[in-house]
Amino acid sequence: MKLDITNTETFTEKKEVTNFKEKARKANKSLHTKDGKGSNYLGWVNLPYEITDNLIKDINTKAEELQSKIEIMLTIGIGGSYLGAKAVIEALSDNFSEYKTNKYPKMLFAGNNLSEDYIAELIQLLDDKSYAVTVISKSGTTTEPATSFRIFKKHLEKKYGKKEAVSRIIAITDKEKGALKQLADSEGYKTYVIPDDVGGRFSVLTPVGLFPVAVAGFDIKKLIDGAENIAEQTKKENNNAEAYAAIRNILYTNGFTNEILVNYNPKLTFFAEWWKQLYGESEGKKGKGIFPASVSFTTDLHSLGQYIQDGKRNLFETVISVEKTKYNVVLEKDEQNLDKLNYLAGKNIEYINKSAEQGTLKAHLDGGVPNIRISIPEINEFYIGELIYFFEKACGISGYILGVNPFDQPGVEAYKRNMFRILGKPGY
Ligand code: PA5
Repeated sequence: MKLDITNTETFTEKKEVTNFKEKARKANKSLHTKDGKGSNYLGWVNLPYEITDNLIKDINTKAEELQSKIEIMLTIGIGGSYLGAKAVIEALSDNFSEYKTNKYPKMLFAGNNLSEDYIAELIQLLDDKSYAVTVISKSGTTTEPATSFRIFKKHLEKKYGKKEAVSRIIAITDKEKGALKQLADSEGYKTYVIPDDVGGRFSVLTPVGLFPVAVAGFDIKKLIDGAENIAEQTKKENNNAEAYAAIRNILYTNGFTNEILVNYNPKLTFFAEWWKQLYGESEGKKGKGIFPASVSFTTDLHSLGQYIQDGKRNLFETVISVEKTKYNVVLEKDEQNLDKLNYLAGKNIEYINKSAEQGTLKAHLDGGVPNIRISIPEINEFYIGELIYFFEKACGISGYILGVNPFDQPGVEAYKRNMFRILGKPGY
């Protein structure tokens, strides 16, 4: 992956760059020496080196066993316990995999909302399908996944009988604590551990992300290799993670309080959802933090383009650009040319897409929107692994520069307390 920050230069001053570069270096060192805030949640820093071949083998073996007998894998989890898996699977999958047959199970998600209709309609679908459940919860007590798991555990038991249901449930949770761990032990579910020192939003390279990604048929070793490559690079001085963390903090200091993650490829839409949690939950504290938003272009140029071009000037963009497409589709010449597109005859669709990207970059820069560009050669396991680790590392650095603890999430509890009180949960 490459990082280009030249299109932020007119919005920053040289001395700020020098100053924040130093802050970024210091922050990065703290992640390694573990002397910063939240240092007991830094297990993700060395994760790419620490995932054992045995764990990968075990995950792949279980995934293969399920692939041969199920049509659908239902993954139950919320926040950091689902966004990473969904982001990686969507990035790597065929855009229309839902409607095409392939040898791997379709991936569905639940426990990430409290919509009754969602659950009811999912039950209707699963009544007629062969499926298994992966339930992911570090605490084991989160209301959304716990509610869904109770329902689909019963559904599986009714459909297959208790014994077969047990073989179709995989629990990913804490190694010893929590309700899910207790249940998994008493029922005899296959379990994978979420390490104590890895928080939810940094857990995609643990079984939380790796297991669903393996079931969907992707190469988790390559994902980890990509992450390891960036882990190596970002140990060195003048690395991209430090540069990205520094520049976004300079822009924030200069009034650019909202960052928009931009893609020109719909497969990356959900990757932005993962990124939004990573940065929003890590930095949005103590009245501080860049607000993370996202758009998919060119689609959203026809909805949010006006605001980005011309609205309140507190936005900067970070574009994820993919250099090479998987397929080629060429626009043909048309005799009638009623749509006046013959000037593009013989060109690939991606040529038009890249031209839109260049045109948009210039327009938004002219409109006062600083632009950061991150490019990867193509979408595959290795480069998605690179992006994951890059954004995680930069997030830790960025949070330290901002002066917050990037590894806690005290604000998430507020809605839960009120909801429990309203629901009449004992003790609230
Ligand atoms: O990043 C986080 O810590 C959160 O988003 C959690 O992942 C989310 O709340 C789910 O928690 P749990 O895995 O304990 O069910």
